[in-house]
Amino acid sequence: MSSELAHTVTMNSPKTMFLADVASQELRGLTSPLESLLTSGGDPRLGLDPVQLLNGYGCQPWPRPEAFTFASSTATSISERGFAAAAEAQQRLIDSAREGSLGDAYDRDAECLREQIRAFLTLGASGTQIVFSPSGTDSQIHALCVAQMALEGEGPLVSVIVGSDETGSGTAPAMTGCHFSSRTAQGAAVVEGQRIAGFPGDTVRIQIPLRDQFGRLRSSDTVDQDVLAAVGQSVAAGKAVVLHVMDRSKFGSRCPTLGCVRRVTSTWPRSVQVVVDACQMRLGRRRLRHYLDQEFMVLITGSKFFTGPPLSGALLVPAGASAVMSRASSVPAGLELYTNRNDWPIHWQGIRSKLPVRPNTGQLLRWVAAVEEMGAYFAVPESYRILALQEFARMVPRMIAERPNLQLLLEFEKAEADELGDEEMATPTIFPFFVCDHGKPQSLEVCARIYRALNRDVSNLLPGRATARQRKVAARLCHVGQPVSMPDPANRDAGTLRISAGARVVSETWRAAGEAASCRKLAQEFEQVRTILDKIDLLVQNLDALADIDESTKRTSRREADPVRLSSRSATLAGMERGPNIFEKLRYEALRQE
Ligand SMILES: Cc1ncc(COP(=O)(O)O)c(C=O)c1O
Repeated sequence: MSSELAHTVTMNSPKTMFLADVASQELRGLTSPLESLLTSGGDPRLGLDPVQLLNGYGCQPWPRPEAFTFASSTATSISERGFAAAAEAQQRLIDSAREGSLGDAYDRDAECLREQIRAFLTLGASGTQIVFSPSGTDSQIHALCVAQMALEGEGPLVSVIVGSDETGSGTAPAMTGCHFSSRTAQGAAVVEGQRIAGFPGDTVRIQIPLRDQFGRLRSSDTVDQDVLAAVGQSVAAGKAVVLHVMDRSKFGSRCPTLGCVRRVTSTWPRSVQVVVDACQMRLGRRRLRHYLDQEFMVLITGSKFFTGPPLSGALLVPAGASAVMSRASSVPAGLELYTNRNDWPIHWQGIRSKLPVRPNTGQLLRWVAAVEEMGAYFAVPESYRILALQEFARMVPRMIAERPNLQLLLEFEKAEADELGDEEMATPTIFPFFVCDHGKPQSLEVCARIYRALNRDVSNLLPGRATARQRKVAARLCHVGQPVSMPDPANRDAGTLRISAGARVVSETWRAAGEAASCRKLAQEFEQVRTILDKIDLLVQNLDALADIDESTKRTSRREADPVRLSSRSATLAGMERGPNIFEKLRYEALRQE
């Protein structure tokens, strides 16, 4: 479905027609424009900058096919297929509300998503249960909560976070039961860093980084030894351990080795609960099944490799822990600030009864879109999934290496091969690089400026002497992974940008006519990457001209602290406008107020 058509469905469907007849608050919320619902019930960074119409992740809550997007290490704007699926799900909810069965509808849809995720990830027979959340970081809080119950009686908890320097910024607080932001996805104001009510005050963490102070990857042996020492000392001190294993990190690494994890679980079987951070979803399905068979919990998202809209998280709970949870009857009191009854599996009645009935429509619709992407990806024959990702891994680093201004990180990922294999994920899919000016890697701030300019039309910022071709490149919207700081080879703090392959590189280039036709389509993706690199070169040559970008960024961050209430504003506008223009109107209003 084209984005225009998708919008027509959203804005002109029966919901707007019967709106006036229905008093129900619930229904009125559901009939908000889909674009608005998709930004609700999540991280504060989902709020849109009314000038750029982009959220804190540089994404738009409606399809953005005009942008060249290789940002799946961070987040991606919703696709046309995802948007259409979410629009259908929204309409189903509205129909249920009209029939008076909305409460059941949320459970029905969540259960249907669980079935689909289990099917796509080949977990059907595993007894795995799924707890939904608004983000990978929220799911880390859920994981801690489940681990706490699984390890009950084994002593105070220690979270051992491996690859702590390459996970989400909220992981450390979340894995110790602390608020990771000043506002929860449910909109509750909280104190960042403070313990969430009901989580034990004596939970501590040990962070084991993947890199040394020079940004070099530490050897697998060293990381493994650190893990064994941290777990061993904790258990010897009478503590129970939640071992947060990385598979894979922001830059694509896996740590510690499988051998190390096995040694931990065989040496201290009762005192350790493993939680695998697979939020990037860059692991083979056989490996995923193996983790769950070993009773490891697994954190996933639909919004990174799978390119569902930002944000969506889930915790996969293995059969044994699920059995414990189905008998549990209490949860930490503060959990209600984060999660709702529908997020938790139907059979976990005791837990569900302690949580509020407060369905999170935005989260559900984002997951619907993500599952649509999963389906499209796994519908592609495995041989082409492998071929496309291998081709990406062959071409993209080569294109980066050809640019004098770009320096691919020498060692960007560590993932020891083992007997589990990685299927198509055996090949790297995230390519981080420094951006240099006269050979010097640029700071995180400069990278952030380039990152923002990439994602906008900055043709008007170029000097008068710029050529028509340069203006065309500068106008192109290019979305890459958020900048990450990293010491450069001279041990100065520098920034990196990342170009990543997500599921859509496969699903949108696959052609039923076969691999030859698909590869021709894939070549167009590389042309897009080439344009992104051209634009980076151009921006490096014109860094001074980007000062205005910072001006508009100040405006953006001011608004992020006080997020734009799209739902109410766009609902007001919905009666006046049809289609995506309501957002243009919003942008116009914001500019007028400047
Ligand atoms: C490896 C890893 N784990 C967890 C997270 C947190 O996920 P989310 O952004 O959905 O909260 C991230 C985010 O980038 C990540 O890269």
